[in-house]
Amino acid sequence: MNNLESFWMPFTSNRDFKHNPRLLVRAEGVYYTTTDGRQVLDGTSGLWCSNAGHCRKSIVDAIKKQAELLDFAPTFQIGHPLSFEFAERLIHMVQGFSHIFFTNSGSESIDTALKIALAYHYSRGSTTRTRFIARERSYHGVNFGGVSIGGISANRKQFSSLLNGVDYICHTHNIKHNAYSKGEPEWGMHLADDLERLFVLHDSSTIAAVIVEPLAGSTGVLVPPKGYLGRLREICDAHDILLIFDEVITGFGRIGTAFASDYFAVKPDIFTTAKGITNATVPMGAVFCRNGIYEAFMDAPEGAIELFHGYTCSGHPVACAAGLATIELYQNEELFKRSAELAPYLEEAVHSLKGNKHVVDIRNLGMIAAIELEGVNNKPTVRAMEAFKQCYDKGLLIRTTGDTIALSPPLIIEKNQIDFIIDVIRRVLRSIN
Ligand SMILES: Cc1ncc(COP(=O)(O)O)c(C=O)c1O
Repeated sequence: MNNLESFWMPFTSNRDFKHNPRLLVRAEGVYYTTTDGRQVLDGTSGLWCSNAGHCRKSIVDAIKKQAELLDFAPTFQIGHPLSFEFAERLIHMVQGFSHIFFTNSGSESIDTALKIALAYHYSRGSTTRTRFIARERSYHGVNFGGVSIGGISANRKQFSSLLNGVDYICHTHNIKHNAYSKGEPEWGMHLADDLERLFVLHDSSTIAAVIVEPLAGSTGVLVPPKGYLGRLREICDAHDILLIFDEVITGFGRIGTAFASDYFAVKPDIFTTAKGITNATVPMGAVFCRNGIYEAFMDAPEGAIELFHGYTCSGHPVACAAGLATIELYQNEELFKRSAELAPYLEEAVHSLKGNKHVVDIRNLGMIAAIELEGVNNKPTVRAMEAFKQCYDKGLLIRTTGDTIALSPPLIIEKNQIDFIIDVIRRVLRSIN
């Protein structure tokens, strides 16, 4: 008998879970099935990742076929065609980018992007550019690079002093000015100028890159104010600083375009992806580099390795097969367009919760929405966690971050299923304390 003890669960209250487990055994479309045979509507695309819904046949078939044909091949000094084919396919999804570095997760994509940024400046002889500027209330995964540039104290405090040479601009969340904004808030573009404040302390010539999530997901769905990202771009350009977007959540249709950089019409120099790249069927991530980044490394002596970085499973054949099938599915079903078309419906539906007990803000962009609850005094997260449990018991999977309920349903969701999500949350808000 499995007593559920040996698996040390990530980002989980292990004792609480093991006392009252919630186990999923099957998935199809927008539904999970639990061990006790109940259907649970997936209001979060697993973990912001199953954008095309679950167990899609074409992806499953591609994985099976590839696993039988070539289960693994190294990509250090030797290769296999699929990784080149997949990189080429990805590059054609976005203008101005020429090279892809494959990883196995969002966290690895972040560390890779940081290392490429440092090595890029080094290759060009700008050896003073070693500092990163990140943002408060950001989440960039859990590796040491990502935690160092991350802006969540709980994720940092157990792990000592982390990377040196990181500083933070202020976050953009402000309920006083922007509560109940639909889409991008009107107020807050000027917060990008906080970057210039840091130049007083750290001369801009010491900064390698600025890194932000275009829309911060895991810290409560913080939609950037109108003009904010463009302003960051302008400041970075004026000081020869690279701009990195973390698109691990926003990539692959989540806000109605392939990438957030398309939606906001602001091009970063490097951007990170993972999750939706394979519909999360096989772990994978990819770092996109704009024209000119890779070329800066190509002055290395003939035969020399140009970048001393890589993972055993970078460009894994089964992940590439899954990724190729995923992109094909996104395109065949026009899921990014569908995401843009459904977004106004989700917006209206979620904002209809205004006025319910505990609700202090509602915000949204694309197929992402958040309902912020007032926290219980001295017990942050408790109220939202209670909402999570009650939703699950009523057949709905939501994600909570702090005291915010975050929704990011699969892009194949139907309107009546969005209605179900809102109805369950409304009932739960009435019943929680
Ligand atoms: C913006 C962002 N960056 C990085 C990560 C880390 O990705 P992973 O959990 O695949 O390492 C996440 C995960 O949610 C994320 O939201």
